[in-house]
Amino acid sequence: MDPQSVQTNVVLILDFGSQYTHLITRRIRSLSVFSLCISGTSPLKSITDLNPSVIILSGGPHSVHAPNAPCFPDGFIEYVESKGVFVLGICYGLQLIVERLGGCVRAGEKQEYGRMEIEVEKACGLFGGSKKVGDKQVVWMSHGDEAVKLPDGFEVAARSQQGSVAAVECPGRRFYGLQYHPEVTHSPEGMETLRYFLFDVCGVTAGWKMEDVLDEEIKVIQGKVGPEDHVICALSGGVDSTVAATLVHKAIGDRLHCVFVDNGLLRYKERERVMETFERDLHLPVTCVDATEQFLSKLKGVVDPEMKRKIIGKEFICIFDDFAQRLERDLGKKAVYLVQGTLYPDVIESCPPPGSGRTHSHTIKSHHNVGGLPKDMKLKLIEPLKLLFKDEVRELGRILEVPSAFLKRHPFPGPGLAVRVLGDVTEGNALEILRQVDEIFIQSIKDAGIYDTIWQAFAVFLPIRSVGVQGDQRTHSHVVALRAVTSQDGMTADWYNFEHKFLDDVARKICNSVRGVNRVVQDITSKPPSTIEWE
Ligand code: XMP
Repeated sequence: MDPQSVQTNVVLILDFGSQYTHLITRRIRSLSVFSLCISGTSPLKSITDLNPSVIILSGGPHSVHAPNAPCFPDGFIEYVESKGVFVLGICYGLQLIVERLGGCVRAGEKQEYGRMEIEVEKACGLFGGSKKVGDKQVVWMSHGDEAVKLPDGFEVAARSQQGSVAAVECPGRRFYGLQYHPEVTHSPEGMETLRYFLFDVCGVTAGWKMEDVLDEEIKVIQGKVGPEDHVICALSGGVDSTVAATLVHKAIGDRLHCVFVDNGLLRYKERERVMETFERDLHLPVTCVDATEQFLSKLKGVVDPEMKRKIIGKEFICIFDDFAQRLERDLGKKAVYLVQGTLYPDVIESCPPPGSGRTHSHTIKSHHNVGGLPKDMKLKLIEPLKLLFKDEVRELGRILEVPSAFLKRHPFPGPGLAVRVLGDVTEGNALEILRQVDEIFIQSIKDAGIYDTIWQAFAVFLPIRSVGVQGDQRTHSHVVALRAVTSQDGMTADWYNFEHKFLDDVARKICNSVRGVNRVVQDITSKPPSTIEWE
């Protein structure tokens, strides 16, 4: 999707590193307004190109007085004032506005963290018509510094119980600020405040909906792909690539050629299961390539997770290039584009802490569909989902009539079981053991009727052995871990709390039926500090 083709107003969020920034994006989209988030230190041109009606400056872990404290680019204030863009600063964003417009921010003597009551001092647009002077509301605060002197023309709209500035406004210059986080559920009236701000204060019109995204996206693809151009798409069996392919197929019909690669790192019977759905339910033209040997031989002896990802990414591209060449050689069809199901969370850049020496988000893991593509790749990319969150992709898939059971499938990483067999994936029969354990675990989850309440569940093969006793015999066998998490978009996650009996049954079933496993453990860490996958 091209942000410039969006029909409604664009609300741009400048990210200064708060853990809640992406929640703001989601909250605004849930009001049917298109919003987008880019790094707060992006060049002015990246901001002006998007032509936003409203800009929200996010919170962040910094102090405006810290060396290298992140700030919007030079010329930002002049730009918003000359164009009449509304600006809302949240937490750090408020302090940045105050400091840069001639007010004063001081290290707070009384730091404010957590749930807090604020009192309205001035009935203003931010609180709509519903709040009067003296009214109180509970909000979520998280700040050390505080605004002690406001820039000329600014007024305090609300204060905390301790007397600190909680909301400010300067309607004449279209600047607003909240010292608390309206986007979190701990600020029960925060959503109302965002709604008042966008619709009543800024006059934004709602109207961004998935049907429009679909129409716009089809137009963009049709405009991009020339009449003689062909497009290839790698289907992984996951929701993202399937929705992306279905969408591109709708746009250009049989000039789309899908390839499903069996890289030897798939789940139990995955190849048979997904090929059947592609052909029977989705009528997608798919070629299945068995590249098990090609991948596993390259992964032999590799234990570093990032190396695994890079190798797998590279092999995928070789296969796609080869597939494209065959299309041209055998059928005279020239593939110019490659479709990828990259999602918004994969491409988001956040602002790093000051002094870290980093300019954008640190690579925690290079997702193969973003970080691992070779620079000399001949095919150009089409990434129709790259501005959408997972739940939005599911909604798009529903409109495209992708079967709902398929849309509800748990995410599966591009590098597959390679990042779930810790260490060398080719050692012994680790992959085979993992497939069996994973199948038992997932089937039990389905049987218990809890599959849809879990974001992702899977088993992990640990490269260690432990001592057990099975059938009166001492065993020295493998350990497997079970991981299940709930999440909204995979960016943060909580571990799933199974019932005791469920875990007891699954562990027993695994040890009784999978040869070579004598111990089952459960992963009870959330993200952060862990990631969802183990590698
Ligand atoms: P992490 O492990 O980073 O995962 O917390 C977040 C989500 O992303 C999936 N994931 C990947 N997806 N290629 C992908 O296409 C990858 O390399 C990759 N690594 C992780 C993971 O399964 C989870 O849903």
